[in-house]
Amino acid sequence: MADADRERWDRRFATVGPGTPGPPSALVGREDLVPTTGAALDLACGRGTVAVWFAGRGLTTTAVDVSPEALRLTAALAEARGVAVTTVRADLDDGLSVTGPFDVVVCQRFRDPRLYAGLIELLVPGGLLVVSVLSTAGDEGGSYRAGPGELRSAFGHLDVLVDEEGNGEAHLVARVP
Ligand SMILES: C[S@@+](CC[C@H](N)C(=O)[O-])C[C@H]1O[C@@H](n2cnc3c(N)ncnc32)[C@H](O)[C@@H]1O
Repeated sequence: MADADRERWDRRFATVGPGTPGPPSALVGREDLVPTTGAALDLACGRGTVAVWFAGRGLTTTAVDVSPEALRLTAALAEARGVAVTTVRADLDDGLSVTGPFDVVVCQRFRDPRLYAGLIELLVPGGLLVVSVLSTAGDEGGSYRAGPGELRSAFGHLDVLVDEEGNGEAHLVARVP
């Protein structure tokens, strides 16, 4: 990632307050799909709201982001909620620098199709994958948005539990066989 992009994210996070822990959007109302033991990974974690929710649920949680400000907010939220989250600063443009296996992997509102195959490899058999991206479905489009069916095409060979597109977003939840 270019320094200018990272600095842009840092500036954004420097002006927002802490978030509120909560499940990934694709799992709202489906929280029971998430195990209460094991290891979870939140890629491009932002303020860490999902990571801290995982940790509060009992998962040993790792949160990755390129922005030091995002990771600072994540660590502060974890401390405030009395849970442990391991924060890792990494540029996902350089690939997936973490090693699994994980029981849950989430990548929400960060899209890089080059990472899709690697996300699956990070999971244990039966592990839960949660991917949400901006989509052209129900939106004007843009080169950074997923085209129709992108997530189904990448992950349709898994045991798909949720596959939704619309209102400019796409969500897929699946288990690795
Ligand atoms: C739209 S936010 C999403 C944050 C969080 N996943 C959520 O759903 O609230 C995108 C996040 O991706 C991070 N990011 C952008 N490019 C990245 C890269 N190349 N490597 C790692 N993180 C990146 C940003 O710092 C930011 O935290």
